[in-house]
Amino acid sequence: MKKKIVALLVAFTFFLTACSSTKEVEEKPILLQGAMDVEVETMTNALEEKEELHLGKYIYYKGTIDDYPVIVSKTNVGIANSAASTTLAIEEFDPMIIINQGTAGGHDPELHRMDVVVGEHILNMGAFKTDFQAEGEGVDPAAFELRETEVLTKGKGQATEVQEFTSDETLMELAMEMQDSYTAGHVVKGTIGTADEWNNQLDRIDILHTKLGTSAEEMESAAVAQMAYNYSIPYLGIRVLSNTAVHDEDFEPQSAVDLQEYVVEIVKAYISEQK
Ligand code: 5AD
Repeated sequence: MKKKIVALLVAFTFFLTACSSTKEVEEKPILLQGAMDVEVETMTNALEEKEELHLGKYIYYKGTIDDYPVIVSKTNVGIANSAASTTLAIEEFDPMIIINQGTAGGHDPELHRMDVVVGEHILNMGAFKTDFQAEGEGVDPAAFELRETEVLTKGKGQATEVQEFTSDETLMELAMEMQDSYTAGHVVKGTIGTADEWNNQLDRIDILHTKLGTSAEEMESAAVAQMAYNYSIPYLGIRVLSNTAVHDEDFEPQSAVDLQEYVVEIVKAYISEQK
């Protein structure tokens, strides 16, 4: 009898462990990112059961959307901040997917303020090399080639190189399918150029657009894509043109709000597909 009870207890413990590990797999959170307060507030307000957390110097809001765990992360501005806050979040939360979203400046003359670029290609456009030119030979802003980015997928410190990043195909298609929920402008697939730069010289923007095919520029997408790539986590980069020097259209903060509302709809669609 005693043996039977022990066997039953062991079986029950196995059952509980199996249940909880399945649950953990199911409940890997969605990580949603924005660099500035105005780029995270709307998503944070969409969270139920909200709790503020800190990792290092960075702020995260843990909660749920439609009963699914979601972390909203304020990465702060730029490549170094966004890479650091992404790596901390990956190590702590082991997210299922990462969506990096926010404002951007237009490069493509076809696009206007409020249009959205879904990142089919994501480039670190500040990483480049030039050929040798002697003193006095001047500076040609178009004479450069993109530098490859080191990624760490093989093991600790084992680097390989990639030319560019892409968003996860399934997430990109989901964003395109949900485009009717974005009414403030057009939604297109395109190339997001990342650098710690804010370009306003039209000739320079034209070089970047013509040479690299950039649709828009901003300061975080490629850095986050690189960290997501290191850990093989599906990633979506999606940006709204809050400004475009190409058409002399200045920063419009409402763009950040409208994009987040669209991203929340994409997230809800993603969650309903998981159920
Ligand atoms: N150039 C560069 N970054 C821009 N951002 C918005 N517009 C631009 C632009 N034209 C975003 C960056 C950064 C913050 C300064 O705004 O991604 O987070």
